[in-house]
Amino acid sequence: MNKDNIRDHWNLTALEYQKKRQISYNDIEYADGYAKESELNLLGDVKGKKVIELGCGGAENSIILAKQGAKCTGVDLSIEQLKYARNSAEKHGIDIELIEGDFENLFMLGNKRFDIALSIFALDWAQDLKVAFKEVYRILRDKGIFVFSMQHPTWNLLGENPSELKITENYFKEIWEWEESTGIPVKVHASKISDIINQLIHTGFSIERMLEPSSDIIKFVPSTIIFKVIRRS
Ligand SMILES: C[S@@+](CC[C@H](N)C(=O)[O-])C[C@H]1O[C@@H](n2cnc3c(N)ncnc32)[C@H](O)[C@@H]1O
Repeated sequence: MNKDNIRDHWNLTALEYQKKRQISYNDIEYADGYAKESELNLLGDVKGKKVIELGCGGAENSIILAKQGAKCTGVDLSIEQLKYARNSAEKHGIDIELIEGDFENLFMLGNKRFDIALSIFALDWAQDLKVAFKEVYRILRDKGIFVFSMQHPTWNLLGENPSELKITENYFKEIWEWEESTGIPVKVHASKISDIINQLIHTGFSIERMLEPSSDIIKFVPSTIIFKVIRRS
């Protein structure tokens, strides 16, 4: 099953990923090294808020928010990512709840339990984004905030050599399939920008902000798309 492949891939590469990314424990970065929470203020004051991080990986973002007084829960498919998260939380003297689970099926979490849902570069791995959105809607309280970043759908068009700025892929493709560095084949459902927006609205979210940040390196095509949406009651 494809989700088993995704889990296996992340279990095999969790440590390498953490070593390579060196994610900050000071400021949430919605894109790799830029688009920081301290500049964008998408989450607001999190003190006392119940926050869930979906596809939390090493839970660096949850640790940052817990330091600011949030009560954080991290969910990830990969037990190896969660082991890394547990060690990091201990090192930082932070208490966070970590759950091995699938953001497309959060059966273990009750309805309307969280004030804020956060996800950074994880929903790209969803088999069906609208299923994940429905789960987030279910576990968020009325007017709860959902902030997430994903690889920008137009960035995918640049294929394996984005620096060449040549369109090599089809924007309208519905499925992306590739073989990971681990040799494991994976498959995800592709989303156009309109798919993301329409699925959010259809699920019951109001879009408050959509951002397509640039950086010194990312100048011509956005590599990351960020949404802040609010759960309509
Ligand atoms: C690119 S990493 C991002 C991790 C973290 N958010 C960060 O910014 O470093 C993607 C993560 O999503 C997790 N993931 C993929 N599919 C998932 C699913 N269906 N449910 C929960 N986690 C999932 C992977 O295990 C991996 O840890």
